[in-house]
Amino acid sequence: MSSAKGQLEDQVVLVTGGARGLGRAIVDRFVLEGASIGVLDQSADALKDVAKKHGSKVVTICGDVRTSESNLEAVELCVERFKRLDCAIANAGIWDYSLALVDHEFERLDAAFDEIFQVNVKGPLLLAKAALPELVRSEGSFLVTISNAGFYPNGGGPLYTASKHALVGLVRQLAFEFAPAVRVNGVAPGGIDTDLRGPVALGMDQTSIGSLKLSEHAEHFVPIGRMPTADEYAGAYVFFASRKDAAPATGAVLNFDGGLGVRGLGPSPAGGRRPGAPRTIPGQSGEVVGTSGGPALKRQHVRCVHCAST
Ligand SMILES: NC(=O)c1ccc[n+]([C@@H]2O[C@H](COP(=O)([O-])OP(=O)(O)OC[C@H]3O[C@@H](n4cnc5c(N)ncnc54)[C@H](O)[C@@H]3O)[C@@H](O)[C@H]2O)c1
Repeated sequence: MSSAKGQLEDQVVLVTGGARGLGRAIVDRFVLEGASIGVLDQSADALKDVAKKHGSKVVTICGDVRTSESNLEAVELCVERFKRLDCAIANAGIWDYSLALVDHEFERLDAAFDEIFQVNVKGPLLLAKAALPELVRSEGSFLVTISNAGFYPNGGGPLYTASKHALVGLVRQLAFEFAPAVRVNGVAPGGIDTDLRGPVALGMDQTSIGSLKLSEHAEHFVPIGRMPTADEYAGAYVFFASRKDAAPATGAVLNFDGGLGVRGLGPSPAGGRRPGAPRTIPGQSGEVVGTSGGPALKRQHVRCVHCAST
């Protein structure tokens, strides 16, 4: 066994939505970094799997982030089992499958709004409230999973996008309110092939984002040329939870999305993809316009597929 110390040795961390997807990747990584973890999730089956893998390093709580009771119970169980709480991560969320307002049925809109905002916004608010006394005691930190949809349109429909924009405001307001004892920060990941579901109110609770196979198309819309894995996102959470490396960080949100904010309107000038891989422009019947590390592209001959200008 390695004697190397992890970056989160002796920290106790609570993760909501930690039984699957991104949350599960955070749990696995945090355990590797030496933390003990409380996992609050509504999926009893997935929680069993977490407990099986991590044994006494985790305590699991089956509950709903929309209720005060579940959030309070999760904090209490962490403290009962591990004697403290250093970091709480509000990560559980649901998506609206980019349903545009024009396509919403009026009859369902009310309930869909309530459901998405209750999970995505009220959940983090309740967790912050439940965890605050313990976080003040430990001079710890609070972290929120946001999304590229917290900054840009078209990462969801209006309900999801508004809910994630609201979280940017929540991070900033709580960073102000909890200072100086507790640091509050956010991570805004881009697309991930997970089991992310939609609201019951829209009949989307059995639909999984994984079924969209976004990663197969990612090279055309993610500047880094592919969709990051859930594991690759986990390091940002380690950074913000680290008292040593992230001591100056509060009220910060890290855009951690493969570069979605720097997509531009056409191919990148360097034309790079993976070393040696031919670069093709979607919609141009496979025309090779350059290779990574190769000569600069003749951009003036490449028709922009987004704006149809040349
Ligand atoms: N998958 C993506 O493309 C993507 C992109 C950007 C941001 N995100 C965000 O990442 C976070 C995690 O999503 P994911 O992709 O890992 O999804 P996921 O569905 O794989 O994991 C989410 C977990 O949260 C749990 N959960 C959902 N609602 C809950 C509730 N009311 N109470 C308790 N637990 C609940 C689920 O059971 C599940 O285990 C979400 O906030 C999501 O908005 C996801």
